[in-house]
Amino acid sequence: MSQGGGMHVAIIMDGNGRWARSRGLPRTRGHREGANAVRRVVEAAPGLGIDTLTLYAFSADNWKRPRPEVNALMRLLHRYLRTETAELVERGVRVTLLGRRDRLPSRVLSAAEAAESATRDGTELELRLAIDYSARDALVRAAELLRGSHDPVCLHRFSQALAQAMHAPGLVRDVDLLIRTSGEERLSDFLLWECAYAEFVFTPTLWPDFTGEDLRKAVEVYRQRDRRFGGLSAEGERQAAAG
Ligand code: FPP
Repeated sequence: MSQGGGMHVAIIMDGNGRWARSRGLPRTRGHREGANAVRRVVEAAPGLGIDTLTLYAFSADNWKRPRPEVNALMRLLHRYLRTETAELVERGVRVTLLGRRDRLPSRVLSAAEAAESATRDGTELELRLAIDYSARDALVRAAELLRGSHDPVCLHRFSQALAQAMHAPGLVRDVDLLIRTSGEERLSDFLLWECAYAEFVFTPTLWPDFTGEDLRKAVEVYRQRDRRFGGLSAEGERQAAAG
């Protein structure tokens, strides 16, 4: 499974806009409800055997959205980081930021870095918030970091460089389960490297409606999957051994 024995779950939180539109509300209201769903999954994750949760909060392509929506998302992230940190410390959650830091509004960056520092001793859950994140961008930056190096580039070193490119601690961590809500079934430049052997679960539920129970169900689906990593299943190995 994974380094700490727990699972790494990554979520593409999609459908906030549709949730709002179906109620005749502004899109930003959908994002606000989405932040409540974030609280629910953070609360539920440790009890489900999840020790790392990576959430796609803002992609590098999200800058293309209308300015008022981008501003509202940045305000929401700022508020979440400012108001939740004490609770996250209490829950033993360690927050880390993933993605580019140089284009964020300075108050969002300082709130994120304050949350990283206040929560750094958390051991129950690693909560990685992908903000201004692009997997391709991270891969290009990792390649840049290794350019000109005389040591041979192996998977381990590349993985180290990729973590460094995203200011993530240590090595990059493989995703066990990737969830995308709202019925869309694509990766949208999220964790391309880390999802090499991930299991995918797609659900029609819109993100603002997503609950701890939905997370539990997705983990249950994941546990029923037969992960072979290119090898044989346990049953296949028994058959192969029997000739
Ligand atoms: C996708 O829905 C969602 C986003 C682009 C933003 C995700 C942000 C949050 C869930 C809220 C804040 C996050 C944290 C960590 C507090 P969409 O707008 O693309 O929905 P649509 O496809 O229905 O239009």
